[in-house]
Amino acid sequence: MYYLGIDLGGINIAAAVVDEAGKILGRYSRPTPKAPAVQVADEMARAARAAVEQAGLTLEQIASLGVGSPGAIDPTEGTVLYWCNLDFEHVPLGKLLEDRLRLPVYLENDANAAALGEYAAGAGKDSTSMVAITLGTGIGGGAVLNGKLYTGFNYAGMEVGHFVLEYHGRPCNCGRRGCFEAYCSATALIRQTRAAMEAHPDSLLWTAAGSLDAVEGRTAFAAQAQGDPAARSVVEEYQQYLACGIASLINIFQPEVFCVGGGVANAGETLLAPVRAMVAQEDYARNNPRQTRIVRAALGNDAGLIGAALLPVFR
Ligand code: BGC
Repeated sequence: MYYLGIDLGGINIAAAVVDEAGKILGRYSRPTPKAPAVQVADEMARAARAAVEQAGLTLEQIASLGVGSPGAIDPTEGTVLYWCNLDFEHVPLGKLLEDRLRLPVYLENDANAAALGEYAAGAGKDSTSMVAITLGTGIGGGAVLNGKLYTGFNYAGMEVGHFVLEYHGRPCNCGRRGCFEAYCSATALIRQTRAAMEAHPDSLLWTAAGSLDAVEGRTAFAAQAQGDPAARSVVEEYQQYLACGIASLINIFQPEVFCVGGGVANAGETLLAPVRAMVAQEDYARNNPRQTRIVRAALGNDAGLIGAALLPVFR
């Protein structure tokens, strides 16, 4: 059996065909148009067809399409109810894609899909419970508890990007202030890196990035590796906020595995080793012999794709 998966991101639409074990057989990616939903659906259908072609298959050989989309999703209706980073409100994405591809479509929040991918075929494999976060354009979160995706009674649960770390803190795209996402998304890291560059014209951050416009999530880590003090304070502040958020989530769920994914997680142990030490100080269960393992996502950017594709398998 072959399954199509699409990970709809703020920047890219990534499509892949996977087998039952989550192995990717063909893939295709194209930029997400900053356009109305109908055009976004057109591009998604194009990416899906191209991935099928890459796999050397035809659409007739595909069982279904699973889509991970940011925002609040109603999987029963196949609707994106709300997504704050593209102008999506009550978008019938499932229907739009069914019309274009003539396949059954399963829709889920992108971070839930990524959590499912890691649970099925990555860092959470064989665990009883896992909480996963993705540090990207926003922060997504997902929880698989006792083998089942936990989404809340209305499917809008686990919006971990929008729990508040700082009351009245930095503004967030969702309309609140002080959200985890406003401190620990790649977007937030890039914003803080740019601010540090402006404050320190002699910082190695300038060499690492090239220009303000070219700053990426990895820029601060690259300049920190060269011993740059401005970069070090950007990274340390980022890690402190991240550890605070992770510790709070661990205190609530005490999952067997806590999985950190998304672009920023590519910094690997440089990011995670200090975060683990900080979390250990704040974990309420620190005296418990059984401790949550904080690990980097194993599937990288593919978690969302694989999880989306395997959605029907976990229903
Ligand atoms: C959205 C989430 C999404 C995350 C990652 C957040 O801003 O609220 O629904 O999972 O970004 O894309």
